[in-house]
Amino acid sequence: MNKTSLPKSSMKIVLLEGVHANARQMFEQDGYTHIVEYPKALESDALKEALSDARFVGIRSRTRLTEEVLSHAPHLAAIGCFCIGTNQVDLDAAERLGIPVFNAPFANTRSVAELVLGELILLLRGIPEKNAAAHRGQWMKSASGSVEARGKTLAIIGYGHIGSQVGLLAEGLGMQVRFYDIENKLALGNAQPCSSFEEAVADADVVTFHVPATEQTRNMLNRNTLAMMKPGVAVINASRGTVVEVADLVEALESGHVRGAAVDVFPVEPESNAHEFVSPLRAFDNVILTPHIGGSTQEAQANIGLEVAEKLIRYSNTGATVGAVNFPPVALPEQAGAYRLLHIHHNEPGILSRINELFSQRRINILGQHLQTTRQIGYVVTDIDRQSDEGILAELRAVPGTIRARLLY
Ligand code: NAI
Repeated sequence: MNKTSLPKSSMKIVLLEGVHANARQMFEQDGYTHIVEYPKALESDALKEALSDARFVGIRSRTRLTEEVLSHAPHLAAIGCFCIGTNQVDLDAAERLGIPVFNAPFANTRSVAELVLGELILLLRGIPEKNAAAHRGQWMKSASGSVEARGKTLAIIGYGHIGSQVGLLAEGLGMQVRFYDIENKLALGNAQPCSSFEEAVADADVVTFHVPATEQTRNMLNRNTLAMMKPGVAVINASRGTVVEVADLVEALESGHVRGAAVDVFPVEPESNAHEFVSPLRAFDNVILTPHIGGSTQEAQANIGLEVAEKLIRYSNTGATVGAVNFPPVALPEQAGAYRLLHIHHNEPGILSRINELFSQRRINILGQHLQTTRQIGYVVTDIDRQSDEGILAELRAVPGTIRARLLY
């Protein structure tokens, strides 16, 4: 069989919205040199035009990849969201069209963890209110209520990527770390796992939330759970705005039960920097308010550039979809001396056997095969030996239910 896959240098990659330069560098190092960059998001028609012959597209949060736009991108093999969220892409439509979508969910873990560490020190020293007063010309020189972090107890709710990093950094300050997670998590350092939320927060000097937005975590910090905490506790939320019942936090701040808070995420956030930030928490000097920038650092942007470019390159080179948000996770190691065929199809019974019938009719030897499905689609990667003849790709494409079939190498 003659190799028919496109050379890397002719695969067009469109990068929008000033994706970090690391991404371009990584593509180029791997031989993907046909890169077209746009500093901003493109609107519908210009976007369709830019994607009409693109193999890959890299976007950030402002480019809307709707079904309509995707249907005008017939050669698009994969989408890279160079950010955390993926709701700017119609994931369902991309899946139906056989286009995996990749992102970088954990590239900013360290950035969030560092911010939380800084905030907990400031809260334990009462700095937010002293700072606000000084800006108004008031001098609040006093040690009253100011404590060191050393020896104090930190409760971490949600011990995932960020929570566990926060724990390690806090131990570096000499804090006692406890955590509560709904899953069994390996405790790092000397962190103490707790079997309930209540056990974790009782006696804690600081409680910090690092859970996802789910039904279970909605309003997790509320009047009842605040009552489980000791008077004078400080609370931090840099996870999701839905996790805190703001009215209950306000009440606890007014009563002094909570000594101070740091909040980076809100139930309703301004659409852009041009819109006003509205929250009852603005009234409190002892609350650190940040505009959802927990993960916003230069390092995180650079990490995102590398992580997403690497996932796109891996998919292009090997067919691996591990880490895609809308696609069955498949990875086969690169196989020397083999041809690799990718087949994406509607998830209907019998397609894999039709594919394998084709191989057996042509006496093609399968060296490796991996199939994974989602509710909508199936994705099978097959390695076949060198002696196979031409035409198999056309036959694979003709299998009823096929969305895409491609010879990778
Ligand atoms: P992760 O998925 O690694 O960890 C979340 C942890 O929470 C998991 O261990 C999970 O088992 C646990 N969990 C889920 N439901 C729970 C419950 N009801 N009670 C206790 N534990 C529960 O996520 P990661 O990366 O650590 O992110 C945590 C949060 O931070 C997410 O909501 C994410 O959206 C947010 N985030 C915020 C950023 C910002 O800019 N402020 C930046 C990055 C992430």
